[in-house]
Amino acid sequence: MQHLLSTAELSRADAIDILDTAAQMAATQEREIKKLPTLRGRTVVNLFFEDSTRTRISFETAAKRLSADVINFSAKGSSASKGESLKDTALTLNAMGADAVVVRSAASGAAHQLAHSGWLTGSSFYGSDHPGVAILNAGDGTHQHPTQALLDAYTMRRHLVGPDALGQGLDGLKVAIVGDVLHSRVARSNVWLLKTLGADVTLVAPPTLLPVGAETWPAKLSYDLDATLAAKPDAVMMLRVQRERMGGGSSAFLPSAQEYTRLYGLDRKRLEVLPKHGIVLHPGPMNRGLEISAEAADSPQSVIVEQVANGVAVRMAALYLLLAGKE
Ligand code: NCD
Repeated sequence: MQHLLSTAELSRADAIDILDTAAQMAATQEREIKKLPTLRGRTVVNLFFEDSTRTRISFETAAKRLSADVINFSAKGSSASKGESLKDTALTLNAMGADAVVVRSAASGAAHQLAHSGWLTGSSFYGSDHPGVAILNAGDGTHQHPTQALLDAYTMRRHLVGPDALGQGLDGLKVAIVGDVLHSRVARSNVWLLKTLGADVTLVAPPTLLPVGAETWPAKLSYDLDATLAAKPDAVMMLRVQRERMGGGSSAFLPSAQEYTRLYGLDRKRLEVLPKHGIVLHPGPMNRGLEISAEAADSPQSVIVEQVANGVAVRMAALYLLLAGKE
């Protein structure tokens, strides 16, 4: 693996290798001193053109726990807000000697473009040899968010297969992904990764929030959350209603917030239908009271806060495998 751009291009062996490495990283995070020397002298740039809380601080924490130097670059406060192009930003980062670039952008395909443009060769003006800059996609438009899907899979494996399920996938597990699938890179990344790991996925959404072509994805489609829950899924992943991507306002996509919650919201009553071992996931940020009630979000079956902690271990694993794993 040279880059981590999309879960669609991850083999089962590579995906399981990341999950297993994350388990080892998580074990080191239980120690009093959490820092490992693994990436000492390496530079990781966090290039965030779109808002983020969890993903940005998670990548920053992961890189620091591996002793890398971290440069945080966000669109606000940089020349990107003066209209500097992705190319000129990339050339600047290259000249600074970045070893890895973690990129989030509203443009689907931005990470792919950085990886294949030839702008980030890693070789400096001083002529040193460099294996090339690793690109990690931290979310590109509505396309992909691979580390989110990997942390979701890691969380599901820990709870539903076993805490020490090294070498194993998610074979036969039933996963429901519910809500604004249309605008969700989290859903797209999960569908492909879950298929690769052997899970059985159902996407649940109103027809207006399912993308054209979803019937060709490796997942079942449903408009009926209650029927999907009655089939006893092992995991239910709630998606945020992404109002910021609904250009002309949400009314083109949702009847009304109340109606959406009534049909597609996870509340206490629906939670009671889940099997006892069933877990509830949400990538955050949550719209409490819209796609998920406070009771469901804070219930013992919710693993939403644990997802955040697992995100650090999974991103440590990804950085380690891309930057040091080959040595
Ligand atoms: C997701 C994202 O940004 O794609 N959040 C995240 O990374 N934790 C999902 C979302 O914004 O709804």
